[in-house]
Amino acid sequence: MNKAFPKGFLWGGAVTAQQTEGAWNLDGRGPALTDHLTAGSYQAPRIFTKKIDPNRYYPSHSAIDGYHYYKDDLAMLAEMGFSCYRTSISWTRIFPNGDDKEPNRKGLDFYRDMFEECKKHGIEPLVTLYHGELPSQTAIKHNGWLGRETIDLYARFCEVVFKEYKGLVKYWLTFNEINCMTLPVSVDLLVGKMPEADEIPLIIGDPKMKDDPNARFQALHHQFIASAKAVALAHKVDPENKVCGMITALANYPLTPNPDDILATQQSMQAGNYLCCDVMIRGKYPSFSKRLFDNLGVSLNFAEEDEKILSEGKVDFLSISYYASNCVSHIKPDKQVTGNLLMGAKNPFLTASEWGWTIDPKGLRYILNELNDRYQVPLMVVENGLGANDVVESDGSVHDPYRIDYIGQHIRDLRETIDDGVDLWGYLTWGPIDIISASTGEMKKRYGFIYVDVDNEGKGTFARRKKDSFDWYKKVIASNGADID
Ligand code: BG6
Repeated sequence: MNKAFPKGFLWGGAVTAQQTEGAWNLDGRGPALTDHLTAGSYQAPRIFTKKIDPNRYYPSHSAIDGYHYYKDDLAMLAEMGFSCYRTSISWTRIFPNGDDKEPNRKGLDFYRDMFEECKKHGIEPLVTLYHGELPSQTAIKHNGWLGRETIDLYARFCEVVFKEYKGLVKYWLTFNEINCMTLPVSVDLLVGKMPEADEIPLIIGDPKMKDDPNARFQALHHQFIASAKAVALAHKVDPENKVCGMITALANYPLTPNPDDILATQQSMQAGNYLCCDVMIRGKYPSFSKRLFDNLGVSLNFAEEDEKILSEGKVDFLSISYYASNCVSHIKPDKQVTGNLLMGAKNPFLTASEWGWTIDPKGLRYILNELNDRYQVPLMVVENGLGANDVVESDGSVHDPYRIDYIGQHIRDLRETIDDGVDLWGYLTWGPIDIISASTGEMKKRYGFIYVDVDNEGKGTFARRKKDSFDWYKKVIASNGADID
């Protein structure tokens, strides 16, 4: 038996609108950049097409049809005992073009119904305001986050939903994994700019990609301002609101004790984790940012009011996604391994998932302690889980001991983290119901306790069935984390 978690600890899971809802053009919803991505695989990248081609399959267009199944799905999550459910509001369901005069009532009603349903089951919604779902029109008109105009469009969207769901939603998250922008991944899509080419592959860490650090950090600066404005608005609309920033937590280890590796690791943590956390939690850029920007040749356009906006929009708590740790070397390794957006040297002490993501529960304890030592704000894990290729047996059962093992180990280390003195509010697994994979667009990379009968081409009955892990997680929650065996 494990030691029980503190009373009131939030247990649950997290998804996004784009990976669950489908119904991409129903009831007035407009296209978002994520609707332009075809399905790929571990071996073949997803393709971003400028025009949406009716002859190709775009997973977000149908996803798991959560738009029609959400009541059934929430009932199953409630059966597991969820006390928290994280999803995103699709910006283009509310403002189909990003800058419409009036919000789309049907979109607002859809989420109202969903959040009321959560409350009915005693589930606290935690709502992501931006999970990469930029309106395509905002990409075209303003170059996404490169344009300063996007800040106010986002702030307006936030104000509308804060007012609409006042009293219904209390936990908000401004930007999913805001620190992605610090990593050199496909630049145009990352900053929300419509690419010039008709088609581009989505390759994480593509060595052929021309990086543009100035664009990335300028776009990031705009997201910081947008996030700070959202925090201030949320507090103004309802002082009960609690708003978090979010990073994908980089638990980076030096590959060797070579001091050059130690320094390279420190610098990667500063640039990858702490820059974003410092701005969102402390309300200003850290002193190391000058040298970081000088080295990268970054020169930011700061508006006069930006310092004040940042200092007045500090988040209430910090949330993280965590899947894997990473090894850093001052020499570029011959062979790089990936995690979610991570690239690094292979750690000889750890194994990896079928998709090559390193499995390291202790890394979660390590990074939560690091963040606690530095910030002393409440922390929450809002994504963690194992993507695996589950098999449905002839009797309909799905045996997923690897998932139970992965999540169980992470929960065990989380309990240690609390005893280490970390103020941890909750733990949400990623994709408690199978959803579309963000990196590959596959359906077969499954994270759920609930199996959804949809394949990589979007075909299937969409029926839901419980995997073995369903009853296991139910037992974990019922025992408040004590019974994880
Ligand atoms: C996180 C994203 O980076 O990783 C999610 O916030 C994503 O959207 C999750 O789904 C898992 O990644 P993947 O590629 O396995 O779906």
